[in-house]
Amino acid sequence: MPSLLRPRTHASCSRMSQVFISYDHADGGNVHAIRDVVATQGHTPWFDGQLTGGERDPERIERKIRRSLCLVVILSEASLSSEWVKQEVEYAQLAGKPIVPLARGLDPAALTEPEWAVRLQTARHIIRYNHNVGPAVQRALGVAIRWTAAQATSGRVVSFVNFKGGVGKTTLCALTGFILAKSERRRVLFVDLDPQENLSDVFLTPEVMRSASETGRTALSLFEPIRLVQPVAADHDFELLAVRPQKLPRRSVQSLPVPLMMERPRQLAILPSDFRMVKFCRASAGAHDLYRDNFTEGLQELKRDFDLVLVDCGPAASLLSHCALSLADKIVAPVQPNDSATRGLVTMNRAAREVFGFDIHERVAPLFNFVRPKNVTEANYVELFRDTPERVSADLGAVLAPEQTFRQTMPQADPLLHLNSFLKKQNALHEATPLRRIVRRMGKAGPAAVAVAEELLLQLDLEAEDSEEDEP
Ligand SMILES: Nc1ncnc2c1ncn2[C@@H]1O[C@H](COP(=O)(O)OP(=O)(O)OP(=O)(O)O)[C@@H](O)[C@H]1O
Ligand SMILES: [Mg+2]
Repeated sequence: MPSLLRPRTHASCSRMSQVFISYDHADGGNVHAIRDVVATQGHTPWFDGQLTGGERDPERIERKIRRSLCLVVILSEASLSSEWVKQEVEYAQLAGKPIVPLARGLDPAALTEPEWAVRLQTARHIIRYNHNVGPAVQRALGVAIRWTAAQATSGRVVSFVNFKGGVGKTTLCALTGFILAKSERRRVLFVDLDPQENLSDVFLTPEVMRSASETGRTALSLFEPIRLVQPVAADHDFELLAVRPQKLPRRSVQSLPVPLMMERPRQLAILPSDFRMVKFCRASAGAHDLYRDNFTEGLQELKRDFDLVLVDCGPAASLLSHCALSLADKIVAPVQPNDSATRGLVTMNRAAREVFGFDIHERVAPLFNFVRPKNVTEANYVELFRDTPERVSADLGAVLAPEQTFRQTMPQADPLLHLNSFLKKQNALHEATPLRRIVRRMGKAGPAAVAVAEELLLQLDLEAEDSEEDEP
């Protein structure tokens, strides 16, 4: 029996254990002490001590940072003008990774440039010292790393994105999140970033959505947290309010999500969409950065209360998809089993690199949807694509690794066509309704969706402890 349908013992998450150390070689004498603190805290330090300039591979560095728990950076006169340190910190900022600055012989609050270092002034832990990393600095760094690791046990972000419309992003996002929450394996937060509001429609009544919109309990408030501090008159609703309030009100951000399971409000919740987010299609480049920073900060707060944040995105390339792609630990891309559909994955990859300026191919996991049972052509296509994408097309081979594609496919099935009314009819959100019964009533789509949810945990390295505890 799939482990998600077995009785639950307890939910747990594995921790990412690598800590990236960013520094200029002029401060190299400090790195060993930092490395020792990281190791004492049970993590693996990573720094580029062995690499020369010619060997530095930016893609490898970015990958290392994405896989790290956090980045520790030595801020000093030398590192402030280092291109490498700048690049590493910016990668971490873009990926929403926690950063612990160690300020060597300078006051970070007094910095007015460079921009990447000024942004570090809001870091949760800033440790100042003069020359060497002594015992007091080591203790402070230990506290910062422990705190960061505790935060990281929650909140992996999975975005459902494909620039093609109607491929099943919303349906699969809703179903996967519902199964993981209902099985009690993970606390799930949905974030609906599509102004079409489809995901919100699956779970909320029009009355609840209207009230969420009127009281600012929507994703729009993460982009414009000013709405949480002062009322915005209706005639300014569609104006861009790209302002950062002095201090983001944490409590108000954490109270934004609308609970979906009344008995256990933190098991499954949604931050609904807001039609007014359509205005972001005209955000200027400068405003774009500010909105993205606000959203990143807000999402960091929300992640603390959940194990998984599932983001649903509309089909257009926009500020909204930019945020969904840049902050995701995993990008699930539903796709139909044919050439013209899978070529869209290449387009999405190019758009991310050339328009948004970052790589996503390491994180994209194609998930075949609408697979017709007994259709041999489609089954063969899926197999070929999954095992040897380069044989489907050289472009695809370049942007996908075979292990990234979901082994499980989703069949074309009636309950998925009417997910909203199906879940309602099954009284699915009620605590007394067992997941097993809902899955059974979904026919072929039920076991397939459970397998997709399990595979997602596996891809996020979140499954191991569950499988162990399920051993007889
Ligand atoms: N496996 C499936 N079997 C049957 N119907 C499906 C399946 N997957 C999705 N659908 C249906 O296909 C339509 C499009 O799905 P969905 O809205 O999830 O796509 P989307 O990618 O989110 O679309 P958009 O790009 O507009 O956001 C919906 O009516 C949905 O109910
Ligand atoms: Mg959708």
